[in-house]
Amino acid sequence: MKVTLDDILAGESRHVLQTYRRQPVAFVRGAGAHLFDVDGRDYLDFVSGIGVASLGHAHPGLAAAIAEQAATLLHTSNLYYHPFQADAASRLSQLSGLPRVFFCNSGAEAVEACLKFARRYWHTQGAKGRVGFVAIEGGFSGRTFGALSVTHDANYRAPFAPLLEPVTFVDPRAPEALASAVTDRTAAIIAEPMQGEGGIRPLSREFADAINEVCTRTGTLYIADEVQTGLGRTGYPFYSQALGLRPDLISVGKALGGGVPMGAALVSERVAQAIAPGDHGSTYGGNLLGTRAASFVLDQLLNQGLLEHIQDVGAHFERRLRALALRHPAITEVRGAGLMRGLQLVYDAKPIVDLARERGLLVNRTDEKVVRLLPPLTIEAAEIDRATDILDGVFAAVPAEGQV
Ligand SMILES: Cc1ncc(COP(=O)(O)O)c(C=O)c1O
Repeated sequence: MKVTLDDILAGESRHVLQTYRRQPVAFVRGAGAHLFDVDGRDYLDFVSGIGVASLGHAHPGLAAAIAEQAATLLHTSNLYYHPFQADAASRLSQLSGLPRVFFCNSGAEAVEACLKFARRYWHTQGAKGRVGFVAIEGGFSGRTFGALSVTHDANYRAPFAPLLEPVTFVDPRAPEALASAVTDRTAAIIAEPMQGEGGIRPLSREFADAINEVCTRTGTLYIADEVQTGLGRTGYPFYSQALGLRPDLISVGKALGGGVPMGAALVSERVAQAIAPGDHGSTYGGNLLGTRAASFVLDQLLNQGLLEHIQDVGAHFERRLRALALRHPAITEVRGAGLMRGLQLVYDAKPIVDLARERGLLVNRTDEKVVRLLPPLTIEAAEIDRATDILDGVFAAVPAEGQV
């Protein structure tokens, strides 16, 4: 019997905790940059599961690797060795320049690990008062307690106080404020090199330089939260590299497993030296399924030309979006890099997201007035053309005040 959207909505409203505001569509199948709903309708996917489906949907090579692993051995725990952690870790270290990797299952867990490792570093140095964090206004690092503590949005934070302390937030437009925010109690600065949930906002060069300067002068660690920007999304392996940042720790998630839940904390040698067995752990972290999937995704980036593809189509994407902005005054700015793009609108982006979906294109709203575009990293130029053509019609159909 065919499942209907109404059946799914009824079941969810009875039994699923209502923490999400979902859009009225249910997907059952995917292929490349396309998703198909319960009625067989075809959508072009420029959300990719919020930057997760890095190789698109149902990638034959990834599917084969996962299927083979599922039929062989999925999980044994971190009580024992298996063949795939070292492989995925060495590929991550090749891309990042950071030599050591801790595996976990999500972006928030990767951030938690980085925060713990930063505190552990100073504890090991005997500087037990260096426990604080400096984070960035507009930043988002996840929903668990540590990650939430360095996330700026008061709506996410307030109902769960008290959070981890002390955390000081700095305005990313005020690099000069960073030096005074970092004190002799600061363990680390945590910053996304380009804010994702915050509206596709790259850090300025000046702010990046200020991070480098204060970290060099005070020994403060820098944690680059690259859960959204990492692994090729911006056309760079990591966007911190584009800004000349020198992270001691990098949090990774989303794209890493191509849809298999995976996260990782990448760690410099000086921080790694401070970590001892028993300091951190995860039952699932780095299991055979996850690391096998991650190795496949990382191989695409390192050896199969995916990074170069992202740079090529990313430049094409930017040209198309700039042309779109020229035709529609509601778009005041095109931000981002590679295949991580945001359109700043003068009005709430919701009508654009809704009408685009009705016309077969999935895009996402963030920071209220921003249309966020995160297509699969395998997206083709022709699909970008199709998506921007749909957006052209959508912007033309939404009146200037943003009401359909
Ligand atoms: C920069 C950044 N950090 C951390 C997270 C949290 O990742 P997850 O939802 O996998 O826990 C996100 C999620 O959007 C993110 O964008």
